[in-house]
Amino acid sequence: MSLSTKHLLGIRDLKKEDISLILQTAEQFKEVLQRPVKKVPSLRDIVVVNLFFENSTRTRISFELAEKRLSADTVNFTASSSSVSKGETLLDTVNNILSMKVDMVVMRHSASGAPHFLANHIPAAIINAGDGINEHPTQGLLDALSIKEKTGSLEGRKVAIIGDIMHSRVAQSNIYLLKKMGAEVTVCGPPTLIPKYISQALGVNVSYHLRETLEWCDVANVLRIQLERQNQVLFSSLREYSLAYGINRQMLDSLHKEIVIMHPGPINRGVELDSDVADSKQSIILQQVENGVAVRMAVLYLLANRNN
Ligand code: CP
Repeated sequence: MSLSTKHLLGIRDLKKEDISLILQTAEQFKEVLQRPVKKVPSLRDIVVVNLFFENSTRTRISFELAEKRLSADTVNFTASSSSVSKGETLLDTVNNILSMKVDMVVMRHSASGAPHFLANHIPAAIINAGDGINEHPTQGLLDALSIKEKTGSLEGRKVAIIGDIMHSRVAQSNIYLLKKMGAEVTVCGPPTLIPKYISQALGVNVSYHLRETLEWCDVANVLRIQLERQNQVLFSSLREYSLAYGINRQMLDSLHKEIVIMHPGPINRGVELDSDVADSKQSIILQQVENGVAVRMAVLYLLANRNN
C-alpha cells in the first residue's frame, strides 16, 4: 500500500484510503515508540530539512523527533536567523538548501499556499506543517488518531470545533478529514469568527450557542483566538469572548454526559479553556501531542517510500 500523493500539502487533496493508511501506519509506529529502543532505520540516507518561517513549539519538536526516530539526517532552518532577513526570496532560499541534496522539506509559513508554490518548483517531497489560514494537515491527522483512540472510531462521531474558525488552519484540516471519514461536524463561535458560507461549502453544521453545541457533541476540539491573524476587531474583548464561548468546569459538570476535550495548543488559559478543564481527565490534549510524533513518523515514512 502506498499514498496516492507525492506531497502532503493538505487534507483536502487526500483520499479516504490515504488517511486510513496514515492512521494505521501511525498506530504501528506508536508501538515502536513504546519499545526500549525507539529508533528504526527506515529513513537512513534520507535528508529532511525543517523550514520554519513562523513560530512553533509542538509541530517543530514533533517533526524533529519523528525524523530522528526514523534515523533520517535532519537540518533545521529558522527564518529569523537566516538570509531571508537580508531579502532572499523563498524560492532562492529553498533552491540553495536543495543544492545540498535534500530529499524532503517540512515547511511552516505564514502565507497560505507557500508549500504548494514550493511543490510546483522543486523536486523534493513537501510536507505542509501549517500554511497561513489554509491547512495544518498533520494536526488534522493527529487529532483524528486521538479521537479514534479515545472513542473507538471516526465514523458517526459528533465533533464540535469551537472558537476562531475563520482564521484556523486546524479547523479547516479537521473538517476535511472528519467529513471524509464519516464524522458529523458542528462549528461553533461568534458569527464574526465563522465564514458565512461554510455550511454549504464544507457540509458542517453551524452553531452560535456553546451550551447547545456541547450538549450535542461527543468531542469538543477547542481553538485559540488567533489575534495575530486578525486585522480588525471581530469581538468586543477577550473577557466577553470567554464569557460566551469559554469552557469552564461548571459548564462541563452541568452536561448530561462526559465529552472529550481537545485543543491543538497553544492554549490561552482562562480564555477558551479554564485550567480545570484543560488539565482534567476529560482532556486528551497531551495525548494529542504524543500522537503527533507517531503521525509525523507515518507521513515521513510513507512519502519517503513512495518517492523512492
Ligand atoms: N498545534 C500547533 O501547531 O502548535 P505549534 O504552533 O506550537 O506548532
